Amino acid sequence: MKRFASIADWREHRHSLTGSVGFVPTMGALHDGHASLLRRSVAENDHTVLSIYLNPTQFNNPADLTGYPKTLERDLTLACDLGADCVLTPRYEDIYPDGYRYQVCEDQFSRELCGAHRDGHFTGVLTVVMKLLNLIKPDRAYFGEKDYQQYLLIRDMCEAFFMDVSIVPCATVRESDGLALSSRNELLDEKARSAATLINRLIRSSRSDDCVARSLEDMGFEVDYVVTRQERRFVAASLPSGDSTVRLIDNVVNTSGIT
Ligand code: PAF
Repeated sequence: MKRFASIADWREHRHSLTGSVGFVPTMGALHDGHASLLRRSVAENDHTVLSIYLNPTQFNNPADLTGYPKTLERDLTLACDLGADCVLTPRYEDIYPDGYRYQVCEDQFSRELCGAHRDGHFTGVLTVVMKLLNLIKPDRAYFGEKDYQQYLLIRDMCEAFFMDVSIVPCATVRESDGLALSSRNELLDEKARSAATLINRLIRSSRSDDCVARSLEDMGFEVDYVVTRQERRFVAASLPSGDSTVRLIDNVVNTSGIT
């Protein structure tokens, strides 16, 4: 596996690649969810490129950025074992030579759900993903359905800007008790980890959105939203863990008609 810290070196290498390219963008702290994206890309493409870049522009809360888990050496070993061909580990100056002067904004859906609670989050996501797609020039890019709102916004951005890339959604990978895998799970202490299992259990239940939100609040969660939209139930809720707070999201298909 080749590692590129320099964008110039990567671009030169990209010119030499023939055949299809699959891309898995990440912020590091890789888990089995990322592993499933990498496996799929390796199976479907001639080359698989991974990016590890903790993108500051998508964090509205500085403490969230500082506390985000960082496991670079472990990530590189995992990516190599899974058959990734290249990994990009750029720095802020490489990704934002413009100092974030140019931004990709969506002004409807990005203001709902997570966007209503994380100011500027999706502008940061769309901007960095646009930059990464322009750099990697993949045929396919793989995104987990845990971040379903992110997936929809990226898919629609690529369509709106006539980008020649297929955005591939991949099923959420879960722990045996239903908890969606997330890099943030590493921040859960024992008590928070055992409470976190309630999120998935409740959103799969036949209770209404309001009832699910109330039950989570009764169990000590701070709930941003529990909303059913287009036959999918979305949730975002935070819970205390040690000295900090961990925000978790999840979504499931909800065809019960109960909202
Ligand atoms: O889903 C993520 O890890 C990030 O939002 C992404 C897509 C890598 C952009 O920074």
